[in-house]
Formats: sequence, C-alpha cells, structure tokens
Amino acid sequence: MRAPSAVTTRAKKLSLLKQNKQVELFILNQGQGNKYTMHRSQIIGTGSSVPQKVLTNKDLESLVDTNAEWIITRTGIKERRIALNGEATSKFAYKASCNALEMAGMSPDEIDMIIVGTVTPDMLTPSVACIVQDKLKASRASAFDISAGCTGFIYSLSIADSCIKAGMCEKVLVIGAETLSKITDYQDRSTCIIFADGAGAAVLAKGDGEQGILSTHLFSDGSFGNLLYMPGGGSALPASNETVKNREHYLKMDGNKVFKIAVKSLEEAAHAALSHNNATVDSVDILIPHQANSRIIEAIAKRLNLPPEKVFSNIDKYGNTSSASVPIALDEANRQKRIKKDDLVLLDAFGAGFTWGSALIRW
Ligand code: ACO
Repeated sequence: MRAPSAVTTRAKKLSLLKQNKQVELFILNQGQGNKYTMHRSQIIGTGSSVPQKVLTNKDLESLVDTNAEWIITRTGIKERRIALNGEATSKFAYKASCNALEMAGMSPDEIDMIIVGTVTPDMLTPSVACIVQDKLKASRASAFDISAGCTGFIYSLSIADSCIKAGMCEKVLVIGAETLSKITDYQDRSTCIIFADGAGAAVLAKGDGEQGILSTHLFSDGSFGNLLYMPGGGSALPASNETVKNREHYLKMDGNKVFKIAVKSLEEAAHAALSHNNATVDSVDILIPHQANSRIIEAIAKRLNLPPEKVFSNIDKYGNTSSASVPIALDEANRQKRIKKDDLVLLDAFGAGFTWGSALIRW
C-alpha cells in the first residue's frame, strides 16, 4: 500500500484537531515516529464517604414550612447526610480517598496529582486538595481545587485525564467533596430540602488497553450565574456584620429556572459524548447523572430514551451533594457490581456557574 502524502496527512491532522479528536491525533503522530505515546487513563479505584448524621424529611418539617410527602414527590429525596459542627469537607474527601486508594491497591506516595472539585472548601486557602495531600502524606503529589458547581468532579476528571494523556502524570487522585449544609439556609425551604454533604473519589492511572476514559466534554454559561449563587464572603462582598445579618453567606437559588436549564444541558452533554465517540444511546450500559432531583434524572433518561434500569440513582439516600454526587454514585454502582469490565459508562452533570459536562468511559 502506498504511504499517504505529507499533504494528505496534514489535512487529516487538521480535521482531527478541529474535531477535538486528540486520541486519534496522537495515534497518527505516533505512527510517524513521534516520541509521545497516547495512553488512556483508567479508573482503577473508587471510594466514598458520607457523614453519619441523617437528616430526614420529617426532621425538615420542624425547621421550615414543608412536608415529607412534598419533598419525596418533588425531589425523590427521603433523607440526606449532614456534617456535624467541626466536620469539614476535607474529612470526607480524605476518607473517600483512602477507600479509593485501597481498591486501587495504591499507596499515597505513588500519586502524582490530587484534584478536588468543591464549592465548599474548609477555608478559602489552603485548598482541600492540599489538606488531603498532607493527611495522606502523598509526598510527590501536586494539589489544587476546582470550582465548577455540581460539575466539579467531571471538570476535575477531565483535567486529570488530559494530564495523563499528555504524559505529565501517571496516577491522579480525583475527588468531589462538599459540605453544602454549611452554606445552606435552614430558613429557606426551596434549598434546605435538597442540599447535603459527602465525598467521592476515583484513582486514575495510565493504561495501555482499550479500557479507560474515551472523552470528556465541558461547557459553561456564566450569564446564568445569578440563578444559583452565594453572594457573601468573596471579594465582591466580604464578610461583615451586614452580610451575616442579611443571610448572604447562604446559597440562593431560583430552583425552577435551574431545573429547566439543567435538563436541556444534561441532554446536550450526553449527546456530545456519544456523537464524539460514534456511540449510540443503546450502547450505553449505565448512565450516572448528577443527583440533583429525581425528576431531572427521569426527564434526562426519557429524552435520551434510556430505560430506568440503565440509569443509576441514589438521590433518595443522599440528596444533592453537588460535586460529590457523581463520584458517590459511581462508587456505589461500582461496589454493587452494576458496572462490569468493558461496560460503556456515561457520567453527566450540571451545576452552578452554570457549568455542565460529560465523560464517556469504557470500564
Ligand atoms: N415544601 C413545600 N412547598 C414548597 C417547597 C417545600 N420545600 N419549596 C417550594 N415550595 C412551593 C413553592 O413556594 C411553590 O408554591 P406556589 O406555587 O404557591 O408559589 C411551589 O412549591 C412550587 O415551587 P417550585 O419552585 O416551582 O417547585 P419545583 O417543583 O421547581 O421544586 C426544587 C423546587 C425542588 C428546588 C426544584 O426546582 C429543583 O430541584 N431545582 C433544581 C435544583 C438543582 O438542580 N440545582 C443545580 C445544581 S446545585 C449546585 O450546583 C450546587
């Protein structure tokens, strides 16, 4: 067979670049003697951790004007986990990491990088990732947090995957961790019924086979920032007696508007993952969506035409744990053996920012 001309190869490279098909591009480069080798990153361990304290819908009835039946019908949530005073996000991030590392059979000093998706860090600085790095004694790891609302875990996963593909790292610990109860107003019935606490983690490692992260897709639209935000405590409105009195250190949400945009965005991100990989909805073995509201999960399953048995949900037990919801669900699905080798796993999330994104994984 005749070798392709330089012009044909350049045209092919350009087309792959335009389509954001880095895997194919690397393979093409490699075939031409390029010294860089493309590796897929594989998830080799998952873990999670939630607070012991359970807050039921009945408990909420004594805090705000609501009723248990309304909460179950409108959100699918029966109970959620809430951190105690003195329990910060890093506590759950650390425990989830230990569980994930144990499953991976990896020691902390092998980790090259730690990324934590969170909007509720222990404090503004240092990052949760640095606190976890210290607790784990992960002596070689770089560490940083990502703020991308409920899409924080998928954003972090995407960065980890890119660093492994680029040859910068071989082993990355990716965590989604939140203590949303610390910024939730227990006088606001539209938010306090859904938000909750917990953490999930995944250990990514450079792999050689067909298994691993096939692609990730990230999106944002900051013009919707005011539909879900916390006004106080940043440089725009530093903490003062006034901000505390006005309850500005709590999340404000226009739930109904968020709901509608969430459904459309989750569908967009799922389709981006499938079309990029020439995959059909039928080929997906399990969808693990952000656990925001069971009606959002049902709506997205219906739009994608996915049967309920292919959609993982644990929102009834944990509520909406923002960045932690996808990795907690991934860990549960993994430990329950709902995911098997070679399964096609679709992660899909949406959150404050607005941000949204997906990851398609050959398990
Ligand atoms: N109990 C009883 N009634 C309530 C409650 C409650 N807890 N909350 C609201 N209501 C009432 C409202 O006051 C309203 O009454 P009205 O018709 O007399 O005015 C009625 O119920 C309907 O209110 P909606 O806000 O339209 O209720 P909706 O069905 O939209 O449910 C909810 C509210 C659960 C918040 C929903 O909108 C939701 O889940 N939104 C999405 C949340 C989300 O996905 N967030 C994004 C990610 S989070 C992150 O990034 C940190």
